[in-house]
Amino acid sequence: MNNLEKEISAIVEHAERAVGEVDTGDVSSLPRRVDELKSKYVGKNSEINNVYRLMKDVAPADRPVFGKLVNDARKSVEDRITSFEAVCSEIVLRYRLSAEQIDVSLPGKSRGRGALHPLTLARNLLTDYFVSIGFEVADGPEIESEYYNFEALNTPADHPARDAQDTFYIDGTNGKRLLRSQTSAAQIRMMEKKKPPIKAVSPGRVYRADEPDATHSPVFHQIEGLVVDRGIAMCDLQGVLDALVKHLFGNSVRTRFRPSYFPFTEPSVEVDASCVKCGGAGCKACKGAGWIELLGAGMVNRAVLNNCGVDHTKFSGFAFGIGIDRIAKLLYGIADLRTLFENDVRFLRQFR
Ligand code: PHE
Repeated sequence: MNNLEKEISAIVEHAERAVGEVDTGDVSSLPRRVDELKSKYVGKNSEINNVYRLMKDVAPADRPVFGKLVNDARKSVEDRITSFEAVCSEIVLRYRLSAEQIDVSLPGKSRGRGALHPLTLARNLLTDYFVSIGFEVADGPEIESEYYNFEALNTPADHPARDAQDTFYIDGTNGKRLLRSQTSAAQIRMMEKKKPPIKAVSPGRVYRADEPDATHSPVFHQIEGLVVDRGIAMCDLQGVLDALVKHLFGNSVRTRFRPSYFPFTEPSVEVDASCVKCGGAGCKACKGAGWIELLGAGMVNRAVLNNCGVDHTKFSGFAFGIGIDRIAKLLYGIADLRTLFENDVRFLRQFR
């Protein structure tokens, strides 16, 4: 018994010495040292726990005294280590508070100011202009049915005009869906939604199964315009589009209306602007023609009005479709269409 007593007090002494020997100035190793102390002196395999095993050698009469001795010893070691742990956490906390101090008066990290994409700039310029002359802005889905993209636009399944607008088809649950090849699909939706007078534009993405090169892209952008009212005539179309071209490129730029063909307009025109570079004399930009092709337009075909339940004996209208990418190229001097889709910041930064 005496021996055991000695052994126990030796363990307590060990523990206290070990605690005393920890260098509290070495802050970074403190948490690890505390863990070591805990496992060595109070953990499952600690010296004091091993002493319990000697219980069987103690005379039964002495066991309660022995038990109390061990428990007291353990409690004192535990208390010593727990309070030491608290001291250490305090030291670590203070150290971190001073080491991780930040100077709130330093200037912040600046994030580079972004810029609108040139296509967004061109789209805004166009829509803002139309809004300023009283047009509404309408939305339309990019995933369309054949009906809205073609049939209602007087372009039935076997119509040759479909060849020029080959697009991407998706098999849907309600028949075929496609990625719209033209914003003209939005014309139908506008007329279904609202009785005339209608005066609206609808900008957005369109798709065609084209190989990308300097002038083609499988995804590009258009802004559709539609005006339907009583007494709308070809001169209204000419007036609006001529004013638009002058707004975009300046008063000296002239427009030219060439006969063309679209299934959904009759008559149809292609609208050219006198070359914004050379003023019409002929240069590299206009390939010597003096004119640059801008957009397609025309008087809304009666068949289309009828498809949308608009009485063509009372109402007439005009429509136009402008390629936003082409306008952006002309406005900002962009040579290759692909640069609009590559997201190279060196290119995009120029439009800040
Ligand atoms: N949708 C035609 C195209 O993509 C353009 C257009 C729109 C023509 C409206 C006439 C009227 O080529």
